[in-house]
Amino acid sequence: MTSNIVSSSAADLAAGGFLHLEQEISACRKCGLHATATNKVISKGSPHPKVVFIGEAPGKNEDETGVPFCGRAGKLLDKFIAYMALKEEDWAVINTLKCRPPANRTPTKQEIEICRPFLEAQLALMKPKVIILLGNTAEKAYGESLEWGEAKQKEDKTFVVKIFHPAALIYQRSREAEQYAFLDKYRYLWE
Ligand code: URA
Repeated sequence: MTSNIVSSSAADLAAGGFLHLEQEISACRKCGLHATATNKVISKGSPHPKVVFIGEAPGKNEDETGVPFCGRAGKLLDKFIAYMALKEEDWAVINTLKCRPPANRTPTKQEIEICRPFLEAQLALMKPKVIILLGNTAEKAYGESLEWGEAKQKEDKTFVVKIFHPAALIYQRSREAEQYAFLDKYRYLWE
């Protein structure tokens, strides 16, 4: 049997445009997660945003609706977006994985690898000025090593920033002030 694990390259996926990319994601069966997913969860927000937030993976609400960050963590993310004073056309939200891991477990290294071309193709098509990594899984998938609240400028001039995942803050409300301090520190990047 031939392996199903080899992915199309991100460049090939992006070359076909958003519609082609969405079709490829919808048809993907490269890892086991498609078998238990109700919906693939692709993106929310503007196709050409200034700022892209990268989350971890769909949860229960997202799996049911096909919309990223539409549950409790999403409400907190909406609060950050409002605090950043981003207009509707200025932001988008995507995830490291497009399928929900059973019982919301942490994505495996292999799942992240398999799904990465989709993430890279989304970023190539969206061309954001700022990429905000929401937590450690996004950091791993993006392939950067950053401290909390650190920003780096890439060769292509894009800035990448790592902040707390909103779901982590639901359980650690005391760290919310730090998150707002990170957003204040980098406000000049998207204003
Ligand atoms: N958490 C994530 O990382 N992504 C979602 O879409 C929802 C919750």
